[in-house]
Amino acid sequence: MRTKIAELLKEIEQVEISTKDHLESFRLKYLSKKGLIPSLFNDFKDVAATERKEMGMLLNDLKNHAQTILDKFQDSFTSSTESESKLDTSLPAAGLSGSRHPLSIVRRDINGIFQRLGFVISEGPEIEDDFHNFTALNFPEEHPARDMQDTFFISKNPDIALRTHTSSVQVRIMEQGKLPIRIIAPGRVFRNEAISARAHCIFHQIEGLYIDKNVSFADLKQTLYYFAQEFFGPETKIRFRPSYFPFTETSAEMDVSCNICGGKGCNICKHSGWVEILGCGMVDPNVLEACGIDSNEYSGFAFGMGIERITMMKFQINDLRLFFENDLRFLKQFEAVI
Ligand code: PHE
Repeated sequence: MRTKIAELLKEIEQVEISTKDHLESFRLKYLSKKGLIPSLFNDFKDVAATERKEMGMLLNDLKNHAQTILDKFQDSFTSSTESESKLDTSLPAAGLSGSRHPLSIVRRDINGIFQRLGFVISEGPEIEDDFHNFTALNFPEEHPARDMQDTFFISKNPDIALRTHTSSVQVRIMEQGKLPIRIIAPGRVFRNEAISARAHCIFHQIEGLYIDKNVSFADLKQTLYYFAQEFFGPETKIRFRPSYFPFTETSAEMDVSCNICGGKGCNICKHSGWVEILGCGMVDPNVLEACGIDSNEYSGFAFGMGIERITMMKFQINDLRLFFENDLRFLKQFEAVI
């Protein structure tokens, strides 16, 4: 019996099973009631009492081995054939995998707040001419922002460049001459800056423009106050500091009370309690005139903010480069934010 068992063990190791039929013959030959292994069990009664224990173990090993082979092939045949036939590719997806990029989340939220105030989203080209990016916006000829240091020029004479801000979209809207105007312009902008934790040569802005009769600085303040409270929470305070932009007069920078420490002072706000988030001002009459709008009849305000900076504040991110690296360990942290 010992040799019989050893022979069968060798035999079942070598059986080739590549189809379901092969598997069924294997089962019939070795494991079915009249198969070779059960018939060995029948012969077991004739084994001498002294050898029973050992033979019993060998026989059981043989049977288990054959059963394992049978199970293994049975599994592999079902997973590759039956599950395929069950797959219905016409069914709708069970749920979307992946998540929004943090910059997309913040852009959508900011857009939503201004849209509720009646602002309409406008878009324009990323490759701009000098007139729309600079001249119409009252940039003097010698202004340093036109310098090769800041601007990626595509050609000189005529000057064509990657837009350095989305104010160029505002110019294109004003040129169309349909008044009043109430738009926001979200988009990608480009500046020739060294890449660091706080700056990148590509970033995103949302700029706003409102032009009508009798628009005043109070309208600007109230609009931005509403935005700050909606976005950062009802406790948020704002303050304005005088500033300079070629295309606005009066110009200001707006700070919001730090949403991390509530204004008490922390690392994020450099212990001042305030964080600068945007530039703004009353549209310079020169800009209105350059775009064909009568500055005696109309006035307006404009503002512009960087989406990266606001996202960093909102989610307490301390390195801007993370937005562009597509590291899944970073992106996966935003799966819970809808
Ligand atoms: N265009 C300015 C910038 O890119 C931001 C700004 C827009 C400032 C509108 C004032 C008014 O920095």
